[in-house]
Amino acid sequence: MIINTFSKTLLKWNKSQNSRSMPWKGEKDPYRIWLSEIILQQTRVEQGWEYYTRFITTFPSVKELALASDKEVFKLWEGLGYYSRCRNLIATARHIYQERNSVFPQTYEEILKLKGVGPYTAAAIASFSYNLPYAVVDGNVQRVLARIFGIEDPIDSTSGKKRFHALAQELLDKKNPAIYNQAIMDFGATVCKPLQPLCSQCPFASDCVAFKENKIAQFPVKSKKLIIKNRYFYFFFIRCRNKIAIRERLTKDIWQHLHEFPLMELEKEGSLNTALDAARQAGWFHAKDFISSISNTYKQKLTHQHIHAVFITVQVGRMPSTLKNYDWVEADKLAQYSFPKVINDFLKTAL
Ligand code: ADE
Repeated sequence: MIINTFSKTLLKWNKSQNSRSMPWKGEKDPYRIWLSEIILQQTRVEQGWEYYTRFITTFPSVKELALASDKEVFKLWEGLGYYSRCRNLIATARHIYQERNSVFPQTYEEILKLKGVGPYTAAAIASFSYNLPYAVVDGNVQRVLARIFGIEDPIDSTSGKKRFHALAQELLDKKNPAIYNQAIMDFGATVCKPLQPLCSQCPFASDCVAFKENKIAQFPVKSKKLIIKNRYFYFFFIRCRNKIAIRERLTKDIWQHLHEFPLMELEKEGSLNTALDAARQAGWFHAKDFISSISNTYKQKLTHQHIHAVFITVQVGRMPSTLKNYDWVEADKLAQYSFPKVINDFLKTAL
């Protein structure tokens, strides 16, 4: 039965064929593991790699991270997306420094209580740092198990999640949780890949249900189709002499705590004139002010939303009183603030 031999086969593959190297691999320091896992929660390894090294260079321990300003941490996080991760990162670092004397919790249950840490991340920290027997179940693991065992339960259903979790826990090598967990993720990322998996090199091929039934692309099964909303943003890049109006986004929406220019969001594409009229009506600028450029549409794809952004540059003679709650920042100081990717893309050409 493959259940009984699975971990042995996996560890043998790991020893003889797994050449994947990553800066957090084999790491035991819970601070570094926590940091790497938070970065990797919704980010590809190739992208997260550089951020991880920058974070540990800038903040070698939880103390330095806890004592940094929000602004500095957000700036370092800029470009990674899913900014609630960054907020939780700051809160958890301060909690561990202030309430726990910089000592990380050492049981799964205590680790799970940390802000921003769910069952996956808690299992990763518990196993990698303390060699505790908790199986990680991420997208890689679900795909590997779904294919090899032919599991048809959707990975995004409650029953599917339970089933994958129970099987992963059963398969886990309880004597080597740290090595086993890293091995199964590496196996999913390098052999049992989402597209074009390397079945000819796979030690499980002769047992793999998906391979034997020629159904590799059908696993794992998902129940929901993602609904994507299009949003049309008209940003006003308002310059008064050398200063530009920006503010922090505080509403519970995408990009919370990043900065932006005065924004008109409209329902439809191609509503430039509507946006200009609305901005004039709002008193952001006047008919006599000079609109010096209107950008092409910049696009940014988020998981559930596609953002279409147009930037309208306006030179104003006086700071409009309707924008007095904004920060007026000199052009060469803008780089100190964190912005969403679309805005940074625009700034690269605008400044
Ligand atoms: N994704 C999340 N954690 C990871 C890890 N430790 N190694 C590889 N990919 C990961």
